[in-house]
Amino acid sequence: MLGVRIFRWRRRGDGGLVRVCADGDLADGEIRRLREPPAVLCRAGGRLYALGLRCSHAGALLSKGTIVEDCLECPLHGGRFALDGGSVRSGPASHGVPAYDVVVREGLVYVSRRPRRRGRATRRPWGARR
Ligand code: FES
Repeated sequence: MLGVRIFRWRRRGDGGLVRVCADGDLADGEIRRLREPPAVLCRAGGRLYALGLRCSHAGALLSKGTIVEDCLECPLHGGRFALDGGSVRSGPASHGVPAYDVVVREGLVYVSRRPRRRGRATRRPWGARR
């Protein structure tokens, strides 16, 4: 019984990575929706990023967004989230979106099952005072 528990713990502690595609599948500027984890995978400036699937403002699908500079822009109201952490850069959203770790091994792309952290707001929410 104890052996089974240790085995399960090791599997979870393994990083919990999910293989999502081959490294060459995603062109620069392309955004792809992932089912597991619920996220979007995109390539910008030669680097791969994975952010949460839904916008934190009103839930729009970020897989239909666009990459603008170093941000992912929401298709609904134009909120922008930093690609490298999911924090809010501009727009009506006051909270960031989750950011996932992306690893490339032997030509395959893996994304962590759980987000690294939720992107924090980089500006004060509307109506907030100092
Ligand atoms: S739904 Fe994304 S900014 Fe409003």
